[in-house]
Amino acid sequence: MGMPQIPQETIQRIREAADIVAVISEHIQLRKAGRNFVGLCPFHGEKTPSFNVNPEKQIYKCFGCDAGGDVFKFVQQMDRVSFIEAVTHLAQRTGIALPAAGSQPADELSDQLYRASDLAMKYYHHLLGQPQGAAALAYLRQRGVSDQTIERFGMGYAPAAWDAFLGVATRRGFDPAVLERAGLVSPRREGKGFYDRFRERLIFPIANLSGRTIAFGARALQAEQQPKYLNSPETPIYHKSRTLYGLHQAREAIRRQEAVLVVEGYMDYLCLAQQGIEHAVASAGTALTEEHCRLLGRFASRAVLIFDGDEAGSAASLRGLEVVLAAGLEAAVVSLPEGHDPDTFVQAQGPEALRSLVASAGSALDFHLEQLARRHDLRTLEGKARAAEAVQSLLARCRDAVRRDLLLREASQRLGIDEKAFRQQLQQSLRRRAPRSPRMSQDAVPSSQPPRDPPSYEKTFLGLLLNYPNLIGPSAEKLTPELFADPRIQRLARLLFGEYRRAEELDLPTLMDRCADPELSQLISACAMEGFDPAQVQQQWEDHLRRLREEALTGQISQCHQALQEAERAGRSQEVDRLNAELMGLIKLRHSHKPQPPIP
Ligand code: UTP
Ligand code: MN
Repeated sequence: MGMPQIPQETIQRIREAADIVAVISEHIQLRKAGRNFVGLCPFHGEKTPSFNVNPEKQIYKCFGCDAGGDVFKFVQQMDRVSFIEAVTHLAQRTGIALPAAGSQPADELSDQLYRASDLAMKYYHHLLGQPQGAAALAYLRQRGVSDQTIERFGMGYAPAAWDAFLGVATRRGFDPAVLERAGLVSPRREGKGFYDRFRERLIFPIANLSGRTIAFGARALQAEQQPKYLNSPETPIYHKSRTLYGLHQAREAIRRQEAVLVVEGYMDYLCLAQQGIEHAVASAGTALTEEHCRLLGRFASRAVLIFDGDEAGSAASLRGLEVVLAAGLEAAVVSLPEGHDPDTFVQAQGPEALRSLVASAGSALDFHLEQLARRHDLRTLEGKARAAEAVQSLLARCRDAVRRDLLLREASQRLGIDEKAFRQQLQQSLRRRAPRSPRMSQDAVPSSQPPRDPPSYEKTFLGLLLNYPNLIGPSAEKLTPELFADPRIQRLARLLFGEYRRAEELDLPTLMDRCADPELSQLISACAMEGFDPAQVQQQWEDHLRRLREEALTGQISQCHQALQEAERAGRSQEVDRLNAELMGLIKLRHSHKPQPPIP
């Protein structure tokens, strides 16, 4: 997501007005402890409080699960909403006005597209109740769709005419070019003019997360009409890889259930919703993308894919599983009996039958192994090897290291192969994969261990700078960011040294917002929470400076030493001489530093 259109000062004002202690107190009980408030962390189960809120800095930090940030971050995490949604929510609460949506010229086109889509939705919906929509309405009733469902989802009817909507919209002042951008009309092949995209079809309006209509799916009403479903094209307000049919209506239920059911079709989704199974979405004709899954991950940690019980269904679920896992969600699969889709299954057997299938849904791994067992004989070595290879590719997609490790253990047990060997093979395939998927972040790649914490003296040093910004300038003169061993600390130092050198006042929440990277803002809150004795600050800073230099020097020495050994082994004598000299220089430099008392 790009930076908000909301001015920084407004965000600042909202933050101040909201007051982090008040906001968090609505969710958990806080009690005062020194300068901080503490309580039980709402983001992980715990019995002793490790969740800290600092009213001065207006930040929170959990030492148990590493959650941390400012008041917007808290609302984002708690309500699983975007930054903009959190700002909007707190703006309403505090009564601070946000600039009206669409007031910026960049938003003008989007605004027109929203209005055109809204008009189309209302027009089609209106027609469904008119005499010309009678056949479409009868069709819906015959398929068991209730009037309430029709109203709730704004279903409609597009008449069998070339310019019905075009005429309505242009009479209301819409430029046909805008209607075209909205995917509602198409240019005529010959000569000038446009014609309606949706004709003689049942209309399923597609909404974005805020409930605004952004696109349509349109089902044929005549057997000979092709395609069966005609969908809106991608537009500036409709991105298929980020949109799921029904998510706006389902989001609360998904959150309550902590799980989401993913079906394929519009009618499948509507049937479930009508039967009270509210926590579903439909991928509606597009392959499930990682973006879809990350979006779902804002509301639930588990996705259950429900697929038709045929070959195409299982192929689709395998692909779907991979993206669900890659997005870090727990994945499960329900395969329906042959010949059924969720709609026909529920019509035939009732919603309880589906609920119980969902309750006993097999894990991603179960499903995968089952599929593999159909293709390979898992009792033979050859079959096992082939299956192991296939499972590897599933595991390699899983970016969550902990989940990957669990899957790996289970898979090696189930296939009866050695876990260690299996792990090695996985490391290899992860390494092979890495260059091909640039999105995979560095730490997510090879090891099954979580990334190491930065050394504590580096964290303390950054803590000093964050609490006493007047030390940033002098530090930048004495150190380069590369001197820090930890790459995250390096990035933070680069940010501070680059932008806050002359800063007398450094506003932590603003800093955290500015670095969109959650890892970095977590690090900031972790460092900043440390308390310092003002009388000791200068001394601590100097001690840490020395320690940092020393550690860096030690690192350099060991690197140089390694290079030297290699050069010796390879018999590169010129290089050996150069490295020898370099090593002597480094060692001398270290001796010139006074011996230091250890820093805890
Ligand atoms: P299905 O062909 O399984 O249709 O496509 P369905 O949902 O069961 O629809 P009914 O029950 O026949 O009315 C599943 C989904 O794939 C997309 C649609 O989103 C559909 O709901 N699809 C299908 C298309 O986008 N275009 C098509 O031509 C067909
Ligand atoms: Mn169907």
